[in-house]
Amino acid sequence: MKDWTGNSRSAHATLGARNYALNERETNDYYATEPKALELLLEEETFSENIWECACGEGHLSKVLKSHGYKVFSTDLIDRGYGLGGIDFLQWDSPFDGDIITNPPYKYALEFVEKALEVITDGHKVAMFLKLQFLEGKTRRAFFDKSPPRKVYVSTSRLCCAMNGDFDKYSKSNAVTYAWFIWEKGSTDAPIIKWFN
Ligand SMILES: C[S@@+](CC[C@H](N)C(=O)[O-])C[C@H]1O[C@@H](n2cnc3c(N)ncnc32)[C@H](O)[C@@H]1O
Repeated sequence: MKDWTGNSRSAHATLGARNYALNERETNDYYATEPKALELLLEEETFSENIWECACGEGHLSKVLKSHGYKVFSTDLIDRGYGLGGIDFLQWDSPFDGDIITNPPYKYALEFVEKALEVITDGHKVAMFLKLQFLEGKTRRAFFDKSPPRKVYVSTSRLCCAMNGDFDKYSKSNAVTYAWFIWEKGSTDAPIIKWFN
């Protein structure tokens, strides 16, 4: 695996520092998002021309964005054969002039939101497809007090995130409720809640 400068040693050093067990993370943290989830969001929300899908997996969200004419920068920690592999989003430290849209590894969801808000510039959006339960919890409450989402789109019907991209196996048995959380950097307005799907 190579990092974005083509240096395989530094990519491994970065991964080692974050104590990743690659095989385990490949199995446990890869849940491809049903593309319909984003198709429906795009009926409600507009985004900047440039979008970064910073945990792109096999590109299920990136492909939808591209089909709608967006310019999409697709990266992932793991090279899954789509976009640029070996990029640890949580280590990224340069500004991005556009919006960030992803379904992040849920274990690091808050860190992903914080990092996304750090790297985009004022007025740009972060859209994260997250479990509805992301709304609760003391640590997140403290974060929401400072950085409330501008909108939360709750999925009325169940949508599927398929482990390892295997929609044939997982599409019929989804007990998780998801929502799209949208932040607009710089806004501290009270969130608006909407329903979709
Ligand atoms: C829930 S999956 C979603 C994949 C894709 N966004 C989608 O919606 O289909 C989360 C993805 O985050 C990637 N990932 C985990 N940790 C990461 C990190 N620190 N930086 C970038 N990507 C990471 C995993 O490899 C996995 O592909």
